[in-house]
Amino acid sequence: MLQISSVVKNFDKVQALKGIDLKIEKGSFFGLLGPNGAGKTTLLNIIIGFLTPDAGHVSIDNEPLIYDNLKMKKKFGYVPQEIALYQELPALTNLKIFGELYGVGKKELNKKIDWALELVGLSGRQRDVVKTYSGGMKRRLNIACSVLHDPEIILCDEPTVGVDPQSRNAIFEMLRRLNKEEGKTIIYTTHYMEEAEQLCDRMAIIDYGEIIAEGNLNELTNLLEKKETVKIVKNDFTLSKIEGLKGMGLINETEFYLELIPKGEFKKYALLFTKFQELNIPDDSVEISRASLEDVFLFLTGRKLRD
Ligand SMILES: Nc1ncnc2c1ncn2[C@@H]1O[C@H](COP(=O)(O)OP(=O)(O)OP(=O)(O)O)[C@@H](O)[C@H]1O
Ligand SMILES: [Mg+2]
Repeated sequence: MLQISSVVKNFDKVQALKGIDLKIEKGSFFGLLGPNGAGKTTLLNIIIGFLTPDAGHVSIDNEPLIYDNLKMKKKFGYVPQEIALYQELPALTNLKIFGELYGVGKKELNKKIDWALELVGLSGRQRDVVKTYSGGMKRRLNIACSVLHDPEIILCDEPTVGVDPQSRNAIFEMLRRLNKEEGKTIIYTTHYMEEAEQLCDRMAIIDYGEIIAEGNLNELTNLLEKKETVKIVKNDFTLSKIEGLKGMGLINETEFYLELIPKGEFKKYALLFTKFQELNIPDDSVEISRASLEDVFLFLTGRKLRD
C-alpha cells in the first residue's frame, strides 16, 4: 500500500498542497481528480521523488520512501503531463534510451520493448521518427517508455489531454490491461470526471491543495442528498428562464443542458415539476438522470470543474 501522510508543499506564496493524506491500495486503479492548479502534478512529483515535500512523507508498506537508490526509483513508472520524448529519434531508440535509464538489462530490454510496443499498438511504427507521430501516438509511446522496467506503480498525469478519441480508447484499454492482467497499481490524474467514472475503482477529489472527498463512485455520489440530476435541455427559451431556475437550486451549464441540483422544497419532484409548469418549461425539456462526479464536485465546491 502506498501511503501519503500530511504532505505539504509551498511554492513561494502558493500553497500547492496543504496536508494531503491518502492511502492507495496495491493493485487499485486510483483517480486523482481536480481542476487546473489543484495540485495533482505536484503530488505526483512528490510521490516519485522529483520534488521534496516541505512536511509529511510518502511510504510503501509502512516503509518511508528514500529515493536515492535505483531500486526505489524502479518501483514507479511516470507518464508526465508534458510529453517527454526525443522527437528527432525513432520510437525504438526512445524505448532503448528509457529502458537503459532504468537499468533494464540488454536481453531483457528487447523482450520488454516488443511487449510494450504491442501493448500500446505501435509495433508497426517502431522505426518511425517520433515527430511524425500524432499526439495520441506520442502519448502511447510515452506510456510504453514508462513501463519497460516493470514498475509496481504507474502514475499517469492527464494522459488523454489533446488526444484523438481512438488513441484515448487505446490508452484506456492499455491501462486497464496493465491494471487487471499485470496487477499494476495505477494512479491517474484527470479533470475529466467521466474518465474517472469509467476507469477508476477509487478516487480522491483535490481542490486548492486539499482532498475534499474520497471513495468509490457510489460513495462519492452518496455525498449528494439526491442521487439523480435534473437536466433541462438548453435553448433560447430555457436560458431566458435561468433566473427562475437558479431560485430552485444550483445550476451547472453544460454544452447541451442546464443541470440543476435542487435545493429546499424543490428536492420533492412534485414541487419541482409544479415550478417547471409555472415557468412554462415543457415536460419534454426535462430529463432525470443518475448523478455524476461533476455533480459531486459542484455540490462540494459550488463551482464547475471546468471553466
Ligand atoms: N514550480 C512551480 N513554481 C511555482 N508554482 C508552482 C510550481 N509548480 C506548481 N505551482 C503552483 O502550484 C499549484 C498546483 O499546481 P499543479 O501543477 O500541481 O496543479 P495541477 O492540479 O496539476 O493543475 P493542471 O490540471 O493545470 O495540470 C498551482 O497554483 C501552480 O501554479
Ligand atoms: Mg498538472
